[in-house]
Amino acid sequence: MTARIIDGKAIAADLRATVAREVARLSGAHGLVPGLAVVLVGENPASAVYVRNKSKQTIEAGMRSFDHRLPDTVTEDELLALVARLNADPLVHGILVQLPLPVQIDSHKVLAAVDPMKDVDGFHPVNAGRLATGLSALVPCTPLGCILLAKTVHASLTGLDAVVIGRSNIVGKPLIQLLLNENATVTVAHSKTRDLPAVCRRADILFAAVGRPEMVRGDWVRPGATVIDVGINRIAGPDGKSRIVGDVAYAEAVEVAGAITPVPGGVGPMTIACLLVNTVRAAAAIAGLPPPAV
Ligand code: GUN
Repeated sequence: MTARIIDGKAIAADLRATVAREVARLSGAHGLVPGLAVVLVGENPASAVYVRNKSKQTIEAGMRSFDHRLPDTVTEDELLALVARLNADPLVHGILVQLPLPVQIDSHKVLAAVDPMKDVDGFHPVNAGRLATGLSALVPCTPLGCILLAKTVHASLTGLDAVVIGRSNIVGKPLIQLLLNENATVTVAHSKTRDLPAVCRRADILFAAVGRPEMVRGDWVRPGATVIDVGINRIAGPDGKSRIVGDVAYAEAVEVAGAITPVPGGVGPMTIACLLVNTVRAAAAIAGLPPPAV
């Protein structure tokens, strides 16, 4: 048996189309054009690609996009001053500071300086705390995308055994909270977990978010399980050219899983689509309007 391929690219395109409809409605009915500001510090090539895609898709959805590029010599005070300006800017409803930041900057301090109402990354401690306590919150985009993909396979996650490999603030931890809110039974595995393959084999849904190329082997996957691969790892191919692989050994896992996300074309496109969703939600909340239909 080979797995059903979860087409993240197509699912993300549908979601962006829904966002665009909602943006058209908000601007037509209320004169509200959601605006997203993205701050990129330094020249990290992978970050530059993400930021370019974010701006392009923001504009395609009918929203305003504001790009701020700062040199990697920027001081913490200068970055905090920019965040304060964006917090005060009425045209800006979402603020994203691309991570990682250079070593001279305390990223916790910067993330905590973003107005929680504009925190479309969901990284502010207020949003993390609201998510953890079951209050409405802006939720980190990658885990939100993972849940939406899992739900294309399982109408309900209630009672399912979910295993999350990875405990980062960006993916693993918020994903755990979202899964609990969906009534899944959640196991969190990480680099110190004993017998990781056996833990993974318990999963009805396996989420891999470790950043290690093809670490999860086919025999770690329970036959018929759903596999959501969050990894985006650049490795040298046999021809010397670099290529992108996930955290899951796809060619092996596709023979065992019931459904699986490819890399690229799985979780990646969902992250930006969810960022657009969060920006529309933030704009409506800031304007005092009811939550949008997306
Ligand atoms: N770096 C890698 N992923 C992310 C993300 O989702 N948001 C931000 N701000 N930076 C990132």
